[in-house]
Amino acid sequence: MIDANSFELTEEERMVQSTAREFAQREVAPLARKIDHEHYFPKELIPKLGSVGFMGVNAPAAFGGSEMNNVCYAIIIEELARVCASTSVIVSAHNSLCLWPITSFGTDEQKKKYVPKLSSAEWIGCFALSEPGTGSDAARQTCMAVKEDGGWRVNGVKNWITNGPVSDVCVLFTMEDAAAGHKGITAFIVDMKTTSGVSLGKKEEKLGICGSPTSSIIFEDCFLPESQLLGKSGEGFKVAMKTLDGGRCGIAAQAVGIARAALEDSAQYASERKAFGKPIAEHQSIQNYLADMSCSIDAARLLTWSACRRKDAGVPYSRQAAQAKLFASETAMASTVKGVQIHGGYGFVKEFNVERYMRDAKITEIYEGTSEIQRLVIAANLLKEING
Ligand code: CAA
Repeated sequence: MIDANSFELTEEERMVQSTAREFAQREVAPLARKIDHEHYFPKELIPKLGSVGFMGVNAPAAFGGSEMNNVCYAIIIEELARVCASTSVIVSAHNSLCLWPITSFGTDEQKKKYVPKLSSAEWIGCFALSEPGTGSDAARQTCMAVKEDGGWRVNGVKNWITNGPVSDVCVLFTMEDAAAGHKGITAFIVDMKTTSGVSLGKKEEKLGICGSPTSSIIFEDCFLPESQLLGKSGEGFKVAMKTLDGGRCGIAAQAVGIARAALEDSAQYASERKAFGKPIAEHQSIQNYLADMSCSIDAARLLTWSACRRKDAGVPYSRQAAQAKLFASETAMASTVKGVQIHGGYGFVKEFNVERYMRDAKITEIYEGTSEIQRLVIAANLLKEING
């Protein structure tokens, strides 16, 4: 890896970085091309990711988690994304979007039931907020939960669910009272394989992160007992928003990893490829590209790690998480486009990895809140901080 910046990592964080880098190189990198080309879900990696503690990164040790901090989490996601963006988002959606809300809002019974199995990778988790007609405007949920004796009857469709086709557990958001707007939203935990009335829609064919399985999830007269309520009835929107703050740090780290892959591969290629009698790395236009990529990637990583430090310190970090996600995802897109350009014709063919990085980068500007939504979150928080 190119030496990054002077952000002070603790000894533990450095150890996690070297373990994650070594794991990514040894276990994930050899599969990365197959994962992309064959749209292959790397099932053999899941238990290995569990055994090194990467499937329960922040979860409490008392429930079988690794209880690492959020900087460690960003480091792990960056190292996985450096070699395979698909693998990194499988891990990130599982940790940030399923395990985190269960450990943060779940009852003791729920934690005992779900956290050990999710942390050990026996179970995989997903998060179901988006719907066919409800993306950025997350408060406008139409998947209905109607109260009945002992629980709720759920009907509706959830869309674009990362890990949906392979999940055992889903954190689900529903509308109980449309007239109450976001205060009518209620969250649940769903056992995907054993609850009747739950089925999967078609698996999506995607531009990038092709090994990360995505589908819709259909709820038809699905009964969820009281034991599956996550948090309080009507407080689901806050569960979703707080979960997404953390998720955005994970996607920022993923974007840093993808951008770094483009930079490292491009710097190496430019040092070897000759034009006009010398390596193209000695031509100033190529140096300008590399310099711009390097600046933005270091800045993106610093934004990401400092948002994580704030989360670890228990201080508000919604704006910082959105800033990290916005800047890192735009950096990933710009850096991978430059990476393709540096590779010239070789950048456009599948023999080299850089075209994969460019395809994988695009989604980081879309999922867990588009760049437009990140700007909205940043400005809203900024104005609140200034005006009180
Ligand atoms: N933490 C805690 N509370 C929050 C919060 C946060 N980060 N953000 C908002 N809230 C609270 C507000 O304080 C407010 O509370 P009160 O009613 O008590 O005052 C309430 O929530 C409503 O807030 P807003 O008025 O700001 O809500 P809004 O309807 O205007 O929407 C939004 C805000 C930021 C646009 C939100 O809808 C949003 O984040 N949209 C994007 C959704 C998104 O990221 N979707 C991605 C889905 S996940 C995914 O990609 C799938 C995958 O598998 C990877």
